[in-house]
Amino acid sequence: MSALTVDGLSKSFGDETAVSDVSLTLEGGEFFSLIGPSGCGKTTTLRMLGGLSSPDSGTVRLDGRDVTALPARQRATNMVFQDLVLFPHMTVAENIGYGLARSGVTGPERAQQVTEVLSLVGLKGFESRDPNSLSGGQQQRVALARALVNDPAVLLLDEPLASLDRALREEMQSEFRRIQRNSGTTFLYVTHDQESAMSMSDRIGVMRDGEVVDRGAPRRLYNQPRTRFVAEFLGDATVLTGTVRERGAGTVVVETGAGDVTAEQLDRDPTVGEQATVAVRPETVRLDGGSITGEVIDTAYKGFYAEATVACGGAELVVRRERQATLPDGGEPGTGPLFSVGETVTLSVERAVVVANGDG
Ligand SMILES: Nc1ncnc2c1ncn2[C@@H]1O[C@H](COP(=O)(O)OP(=O)(O)O)[C@@H](O)[C@H]1O
Ligand SMILES: [Mg+2]
Repeated sequence: MSALTVDGLSKSFGDETAVSDVSLTLEGGEFFSLIGPSGCGKTTTLRMLGGLSSPDSGTVRLDGRDVTALPARQRATNMVFQDLVLFPHMTVAENIGYGLARSGVTGPERAQQVTEVLSLVGLKGFESRDPNSLSGGQQQRVALARALVNDPAVLLLDEPLASLDRALREEMQSEFRRIQRNSGTTFLYVTHDQESAMSMSDRIGVMRDGEVVDRGAPRRLYNQPRTRFVAEFLGDATVLTGTVRERGAGTVVVETGAGDVTAEQLDRDPTVGEQATVAVRPETVRLDGGSITGEVIDTAYKGFYAEATVACGGAELVVRRERQATLPDGGEPGTGPLFSVGETVTLSVERAVVVANGDG
């Protein structure tokens, strides 16, 4: 049975539709992320799942049971927000055990559960510490422990790492993933940060203007984006529009401003002579003396690779060149310019996918 089943959930504020007909199914033990730009309805969706806000229509089921009409305290969900709000006058153990005490778990049993969950989040022996004496990352772990200790059916997390600096955020991402696996708790994680979602999740749902427009494993969404929006939101992509010249087995040849590009059709079905829009990932553009000739118009140094924007005919492509141990010109690795503006390059597009029939 699914841990969470959401069917046709909608919510408006005045004239504005915040969430529109959202349906989702999460399997037990799954790490599912809901991503999308700011204002697309992620928090509103999560609040309805947690019972903090009531939907205009639709149903929410937890472990098969309809909880749509139940308030937050009667649902087997817990929430973790960006603002942690640990109780400052309580120890770490009291913070974590607070909810347990209220639901009647006391004494040695409570202490035992607190000790177990502290070990799960990597804070063994922190029971009597004052939360104010902890680092930001440790406070995050306490907040997570507090939300996990009573074993919720689904843990709802709303951008909990958004205020952390990059290094700590990356460390906590892998910690969240590890803790989720070890606890076996179903996570529904909301973020506008597509990179963290890709690295943590079993599956991702992409939201736009209140709707879930696509969902799937990170690799499927990244390699086979079905819409221009998903291609551009998840990772870097260059989008080209052109005329279909030929159709092959699952592929089409599209004549773009940059030249002919062979693209996987996916579930699109453009016919010969029609317009089609294709998405190209920079790492699939090869500097291999292929049939596309262009001029570098912009460069960016990215550490382990260099990036160039290349004007080719009526279109632009982005290409990357990895730093090499020995540069072709014999220069020091990473010190010389790997691209220069005005340089002529010859390229080929190794992989592209059709993201729209027409010029969508
Ligand atoms: N309490 C509210 N009253 C009025 N409008 C709201 C309220 N909460 C959210 N909204 C609107 O609903 C839309 C979705 O918001 P939200 O769910 O917070 O988006 P996200 O979490 O994806 O950034 C936004 O346009 C927002 O302004
Ligand atoms: Mg939000």
